[in-house]
Amino acid sequence: MPTVTDQRSSLYSSGLMERARQSLAGGGNSTMRVLPYHLPMVVDRGDGCRVWDADGREYLDFNMAYGPLLFGHRHPLVVDSVVRQVAECGSQLGFPAELSIRVAEKVKQLYPSMELLRFSSTGTEAIAAAVRLARAFTGRSKLIVFEGHYHGSSDAVFHRYHAPVVDLPAGAYGPALPGTLGLDDAPNNLLVVRWNDPEALAQCLDDHRGSVAAVIMEPIMGNASVIPPDRDYLETVQMMVRDAGGLLIFDEVITGLRVAAGGAQQLYDVWPDITILSKAIGCGFPISCFGASREIMSLVAEGKLFHGGVYSGNGLVMAAAEAVLDEILENQDTIYESLFERGRQLTCGFAEIMRRLGVPHVTQSVGPLVSMLFTHGEVNGLRNYREVREHVDFEKYIRYQHALQKSGVYFHPNAFEPLFLSTAHAAGDIDEALDRMEQGAKSCLRD
Ligand SMILES: Cc1ncc(COP(=O)(O)O)c(C=O)c1O
Repeated sequence: MPTVTDQRSSLYSSGLMERARQSLAGGGNSTMRVLPYHLPMVVDRGDGCRVWDADGREYLDFNMAYGPLLFGHRHPLVVDSVVRQVAECGSQLGFPAELSIRVAEKVKQLYPSMELLRFSSTGTEAIAAAVRLARAFTGRSKLIVFEGHYHGSSDAVFHRYHAPVVDLPAGAYGPALPGTLGLDDAPNNLLVVRWNDPEALAQCLDDHRGSVAAVIMEPIMGNASVIPPDRDYLETVQMMVRDAGGLLIFDEVITGLRVAAGGAQQLYDVWPDITILSKAIGCGFPISCFGASREIMSLVAEGKLFHGGVYSGNGLVMAAAEAVLDEILENQDTIYESLFERGRQLTCGFAEIMRRLGVPHVTQSVGPLVSMLFTHGEVNGLRNYREVREHVDFEKYIRYQHALQKSGVYFHPNAFEPLFLSTAHAAGDIDEALDRMEQGAKSCLRD
């Protein structure tokens, strides 16, 4: 197993990345996985909270496949359920099946705000459908999003969510900027508002009275580091959106089944009009869903609003989701208590190390969703995207991530990306990671 002093480069991984670029565009299947400052790493397999690269090196994994692996890699309950389903019934039947009815019923037990729901395969898909639903139900076109929040790559919502501060609106809100080449004029109906700033939202809603279909948010911002809502912020937003005649959409792709069994809506006791779940519910299998009240979902139920998907609700992912939901329904008290304890252990341990070494830092977390960031000076916490942009030392984070990756601890090199803990991360694993984090800090942060 590599140690902190083991600074070998992953030669085989490097070679494979070169080979990958000959057939996979950019060498991978997602822009976020092949950033120019990623150290080459081709991974063969995972188990629990660890992965092994093509060179056979072992890593403690704090990326958890960008969040889905709430129970870790290859959890036996999930694997057994999927294998049984495929072997005995088939991966995909293409008909209504009792399995997906059961899974929907179990989702509803945890998310009572979803009286009716539909399964799909990715967060992007479910969110695009939810936005269409909000527009159809209200007969309005404008959608409000928040700076730094990400809602998938569809033309319905994809905008420049990681814009440099100079490109952000000078006022309380502004029009969305295109997030990629090839976007037509889709972001035209998208307004971007500052997070944790009720006055900014009030002004935006006021200026667009009668035309806002919905406000969509990650109830805990998890795509520009972890930024929880201020106290009472969610309730305030909900009240303002309702007063304005629009709908509140919670994108719980990250928070769902992670910060509580019932997601951020349970944690903060704020119940949105439309909810989207993905990631943790499939524990590594591609599933998402969107749902709402009977009244809102009647447009889908009656076929007035089109929603389809060849793979939606297939047996493979339903079997995975049923295993996840059963485990959570049965053991939720212990699962979340332990996830929150591990989150505290990691953030407190990191903060203690950096304090001792005199490295300016900030940690922000909600249970197993964690950000550990370096700052340009002492800061008292980060409340919105602008503050992250202004105060976080992204270069230092990359340097540190490279040192940690070489020592066998993996988290994403982009400081915007949170670390994800799973039930497979035991106290001893966190201690092991903290030891290496301290060594890594001593080796690369004291310049
Ligand atoms: C909050 C949030 N919403 C939506 C998505 C998009 O999900 P997918 O990549 O499955 O389309 C993501 C993906 O990371 C996400 O973090």
